[in-house]
Amino acid sequence: MDGSLNAFERCYCTGVTRAEVLRACVLQGCRTVEELQDVTGACTGCRTCRPELEQLLRARTACAAGRAMRPDAPAAPPDTREGHR
Ligand code: FES
Repeated sequence: MDGSLNAFERCYCTGVTRAEVLRACVLQGCRTVEELQDVTGACTGCRTCRPELEQLLRARTACAAGRAMRPDAPAAPPDTREGHR
């Protein structure tokens, strides 16, 4: 863990990769570690990857917020999670 925004590469217990986590964020609207656990299975073993996963979620949220402030930016994908429509 180097503390950078790119620290999370994969969950070594489950094999879930950074790309799979980001896909779950974009396509399924995951915004918390618990949602990522439900959708991808990441961070359901020893849980030492949790801080890196949280950091990745924060960075993604910050990027989405920055995109929302730019009028020419493409819209964020719809939130398709159950109960969030
Ligand atoms: S490394 Fe992710 S749960 Fe163990």
